[in-house]
Amino acid sequence: MPSSTPVTSSPSPLPAGIAEKARSAPDGEQGQPVQPVQPDQQEVRISVNQLQVGYGSYVLMHDVTFDVHAGDIFFITGGSGCGKSTLLRVLMGLKAPQSGNVLYGKTDFWGSNEDERHQLVRETGVLFQSGALWSSMTLAENVGLPLQQYTDLNDEAIREQAKLKLALAGLAGFEDYYPSEISGGMCKRAGLARALALDPKILFLDEPSAGLDPVSSRLLDDLILELRASLGTTFVIVSHELASIYAIASNLIFLDAQTRQVGACGNPHQLLHDPGTAPSAMLFLTRGERSHAETDQTETSGDSEPDKGTAL
Ligand SMILES: Nc1ncnc2c1ncn2[C@@H]1O[C@H](COP(=O)(O)OP(=O)(O)OP(=O)(O)O)[C@@H](O)[C@H]1O
Ligand SMILES: [Mg+2]
Repeated sequence: MPSSTPVTSSPSPLPAGIAEKARSAPDGEQGQPVQPVQPDQQEVRISVNQLQVGYGSYVLMHDVTFDVHAGDIFFITGGSGCGKSTLLRVLMGLKAPQSGNVLYGKTDFWGSNEDERHQLVRETGVLFQSGALWSSMTLAENVGLPLQQYTDLNDEAIREQAKLKLALAGLAGFEDYYPSEISGGMCKRAGLARALALDPKILFLDEPSAGLDPVSSRLLDDLILELRASLGTTFVIVSHELASIYAIASNLIFLDAQTRQVGACGNPHQLLHDPGTAPSAMLFLTRGERSHAETDQTETSGDSEPDKGTAL
């Protein structure tokens, strides 16, 4: 977060049904039925226009333009080192772009003053690529940390909120465990609980499933879907995990390291049939198995076996 100035407001209360669910057993069998929060999917939460990002005079990506709508699970994807994390840092307000703008709703983020930017950032949460929790603190203390920094809640209220967020992340009963006492998947969930501490409208996740086995990764995907359904959270996720992309992404952008431009933007399933999808993006979306020409041939001939040789 760009500023460490504490603000005095409390986190907004959770919708009644969600709070009930969080207080009940992890699978929610005793809770009230959850009232799903239906975000207005027409509403643009983040609008990125002609963005150029890089370091010093070095340009990593240029002409990056896309919208993230309310309730989207939006993936930023592309090969290793192409600039995904850098773009995410620009969206989160941690790094200025070289040119172009990022609108939060209608507000130009980088054109705003520091106080305005701080207010906008306050509506977001983040799980960094390293995802580190403080090893000397319990899970409840880790999750309570942002509440201590950014609200005037007393210790008891902070503990209650931390319990609630841990329960939402499927970690009810683990409040007093230390990170070393739980699995990698549970650590990611605890990191998500901490990112949820201030009830953000937008959650930024950088490689959330890195280092997780496929089953834990799938459980994390399920949790993201649950949180979107129950809290109405919008997600911006950096990842190149194709299984997750096809399972939960509503939209994605593919960053092409060669051209340093966006190679594809849209729903991943639709991009497979879109002639506008760049060859590099098509290769990525098919794990290097199909280019456009092959896709068209395959569809015409009805042969579903991809020609792996052409991708090499
Ligand atoms: N602070 C920095 N100063 C200069 N160059 C940097 C800095 N941070 C990253 N880079 C460079 O920018 C490029 C993109 O880095 P970035 O971390 O954004 O890529 P990425 O797509 O997230 O990679 P990965 O998939 O490995 O996480 C890399 O070549 C990296 O070395
Ligand atoms: Mg990265």
